[in-house]
Amino acid sequence: MRKPVIAGNWKMNMLPEEAVTLVRGIWQEIEGHDKVEAVVCPPFVDIPAVSELIRNAGMAVGLGAQNMHWEESGAYTGEVSPLMLKKFEVTHVIIGHSERRQFFGETDQGVNRKVKAALAHGFIPIMCCGETLKQREAGETESVVVNQVKCGLFELDTEGARSVIIAYEPIWAIGTGKAATADDADEVCGIIREVVSRDFGDEIAQAVRIQYGGSVTPDNISELMSRENVDGALVGGASLKPDVFAGIVRYS
Ligand code: PGA
Repeated sequence: MRKPVIAGNWKMNMLPEEAVTLVRGIWQEIEGHDKVEAVVCPPFVDIPAVSELIRNAGMAVGLGAQNMHWEESGAYTGEVSPLMLKKFEVTHVIIGHSERRQFFGETDQGVNRKVKAALAHGFIPIMCCGETLKQREAGETESVVVNQVKCGLFELDTEGARSVIIAYEPIWAIGTGKAATADDADEVCGIIREVVSRDFGDEIAQAVRIQYGGSVTPDNISELMSRENVDGALVGGASLKPDVFAGIVRYS
């Protein structure tokens, strides 16, 4: 059985004090709800405060970063290394979000290096993939997503592949209020599972968790989660309010 994982991607929002209030509020509403793995992904500068809160209050909440460099240290101005994140007991790292690909030039090769570095340092990568509207309309969804997933997981060993979370996030659904239908999300998540099966075997493919992301809300989460291949959600806008995010975590 795959344990569903709901992760909140806060993007470039929340000052440290707001971050602490948000996590406290979320925890109040989801404490004891252990059917789902909940993860919050604040901006880097919020991580120390959120980490301290989670540890001191004993919250069963994962702490994710939104990006990470693949090297441990060096001349990489503006970057944050795995060792730095490790210090703050970060558990997950979002890698290759479409906004990083679109605005910061991230490539499939860079995503692969980061996924490998994340695994080597004991993080769970949340590796993102997804097509643009133009690609969907041109019937290229499958080829785009298959290529991104194959490249992102390139040269991983089976145990590494097993622990990766893959987030299918169609770019046209992100921040638009136009979520994919549950059937469309399930179809692409199923295609991703087939890719994993071909490259790493069926046992790994059955274990790997695949999230859907893009305008997920408390109103559409149940239907998305009812589909066979959808094992959770990566949530942007709706992760910034405690009651709304908690409503997604408690979907069932
Ligand atoms: P959204 O963002 O939920 O605001 O659409 C999702 C994401 O970018 O991860």
